[in-house]
Amino acid sequence: MDSLLFFFLFFYSLPAPAGADLAGDGKALLDFRSAVGRQVLTWSASVSPCTWKGVTCAAGRVASVHLPASSLIGQIPSGSLGSLSDLRVLSLRLNALSGPLPSDLGGCTRLRSLYLTGNRFSGEIPPFLPYMSALIRIDLADNNLSGEIPNSLNNLAHLAMLNLENNQLTGEVPDLHIPTLVKFNVSFNRLNGSVPVALRGMPATAFLGMPLCGEPLPPCTGEVSPSPSGSRKLSGAAIAVISISAVTMFLLVFAVALFVLRLRKIKARTKTSTDAEMVMGKKNSVTSPPPPSSEMLVRKKDLVFFGSGPTAFGLEDLLRAPAVVLGKDAFGTTYKADLGNGLKVTVMRLRDVSLPEEEFVKQVDALGAMRHHNIVFLLAYYHSREERLLVYDFMPLRSLFSLLHGSSVRPPPTWESRTSIALDVARCVEYIHSTSPNAFHGNIKSSTILITRSTEVRICGTGLARLVNTSPTSQRPFGYRAPEISKTWNVTQEADVYSFGVLLLELVTGKNPADLREEGIDLGSWVQAVIQGERSGELFDVELVRNGAPEVGMVRLLQLGMDCTSFNPNDRPAMATVAARIQEIRRRSAQKTGKAVAQAGI
Ligand SMILES: *[C@@H]1O[C@H](CO)[C@@H](O)[C@H](O)[C@H]1NC(C)=O
Ligand SMILES: *[C@@H]1O[C@H](CO)[C@@H](O)[C@H](O)[C@H]1NC(C)=O
Ligand SMILES: *[C@@H]1O[C@H](CO)[C@@H](O)[C@H](O)[C@H]1NC(C)=O
Repeated sequence: MDSLLFFFLFFYSLPAPAGADLAGDGKALLDFRSAVGRQVLTWSASVSPCTWKGVTCAAGRVASVHLPASSLIGQIPSGSLGSLSDLRVLSLRLNALSGPLPSDLGGCTRLRSLYLTGNRFSGEIPPFLPYMSALIRIDLADNNLSGEIPNSLNNLAHLAMLNLENNQLTGEVPDLHIPTLVKFNVSFNRLNGSVPVALRGMPATAFLGMPLCGEPLPPCTGEVSPSPSGSRKLSGAAIAVISISAVTMFLLVFAVALFVLRLRKIKARTKTSTDAEMVMGKKNSVTSPPPPSSEMLVRKKDLVFFGSGPTAFGLEDLLRAPAVVLGKDAFGTTYKADLGNGLKVTVMRLRDVSLPEEEFVKQVDALGAMRHHNIVFLLAYYHSREERLLVYDFMPLRSLFSLLHGSSVRPPPTWESRTSIALDVARCVEYIHSTSPNAFHGNIKSSTILITRSTEVRICGTGLARLVNTSPTSQRPFGYRAPEISKTWNVTQEADVYSFGVLLLELVTGKNPADLREEGIDLGSWVQAVIQGERSGELFDVELVRNGAPEVGMVRLLQLGMDCTSFNPNDRPAMATVAARIQEIRRRSAQKTGKAVAQAGI
């Protein structure tokens, strides 16, 4: 059975979606309710589906259905959930749903997350599943699914999670080559054979309870065990990781392995060339007119440094240094490299190298020329046809993201420090915008903002959007991106203002934009919905309220955030105005506290 063929048959036999509107969505949900939740779901046909328990809407359509542990029982009929053509998230975890997955579920073409763990679904993994191309998370664990796991899941280019443990699946482990896949589990099925090479970076616990072999499990008979040097490097790296969540750990081990492999390749190439000389100082290499390309390839075998100083290391040293993955995003992967003698650098390995080399050099040169005490210093770069690396000062600092959303941070940042951070970031972005009319940061979000102990700000990732050629459609959307960016990849200063606005809303509400994005809404819409629903009690970060942050100040900062996230780019204030308004908000709340202190006679 070829799934592609099935897909064509499936697609052409699909009836045109009946009412592709909110009324149609409501009807589909009521059909679902009659079949599996008549006793337990109290949805009323006389009000909008958007107000029903477990249902959320975006842009006038049903965008998510969350009904975990809701005592749903029976078989989901076709003609119900499959008609929700705008659905992004379907969560029916821990119910008693049975039978095959509905045969028309493939009609939910925008579905990103499918959580069906802990039911009694049976039958095969439906052949249309690998063609629901928006899927990022599939959780079908703890069911009674049988048959093979199709290799065609490789079609899911954005898949990050595939949980299939505790089913009755047979055959071999699928040979998946999905770069975004970080969470994978097929434990306790009935698979046999060997672990495919591309999945050997997954932990052994992903393959429990089955007679499988090959890394990370014991070697298959006749296979040579892996070289000890490689694995020692990995575990050394793994130990050094500080506070990274379990999910990031998978990514980490896998990515370090890739990095080491890739770097060894570069190293091999470097060795074959005649003594590559270290090019120090930007005058030498960058501002002089580019030499003919063949000569360029010979010369660009080492790092190119900005400025001078004690930068006594070269590519060879960098490659030899133990590396740890710090993070990964749309632009590439970030590593910490330990060069010994207390010298540590952050290396950004850009994911896309399709920008012509001369253009790349020109853009990096502009970045290297930026000097601001709030911007993480770009020390050097390396470029070849296959590889682009940026080398920064290493800063052992926490990101604003982990300060706001990390569970281990106590106490959470105060109103005073949040507004101080906001002001620093605003001024720094204002500086970037002042360097040229088309200069931008392009990647403002709480994870690219590092915070020192004295709540000073260090911004990283400046200008990366200029160095990679990716189109926005090839990336997972993230909650900070201005709406106009989804059509073109022309980042602008206005788009920076938008991202900064989301950051302000994040500081005031304490909400993680990525969590909402998962449900198909952005932080601005969430704030609006909460205000309109007069649920303003939910609006502000409880930590701020608990610490007596001034309500007027919070409202003003929220308003500024909303102005910055205006849909129309021309309605957004300039960064200089934004900085001035934050300063004013800070001044007023300081006066207020001053007054209160005076009144209390302190
Ligand atoms: C699982 O499915 C098989 C048929 O594939 C069936 O015989 C068995 O009873 C099912 N088990 C449960 C617990 O539903
Ligand atoms: C794996 O199991 C299937 C039956 O599910 C069997 O036909 C096949 O020979 C087995 N393969 C190996 C390598 O044991
Ligand atoms: C996979 O699932 C099994 C069974 O639930 C669990 O014991 C194991 O820890 C899981 N492994 C991973 C990597 O999630």
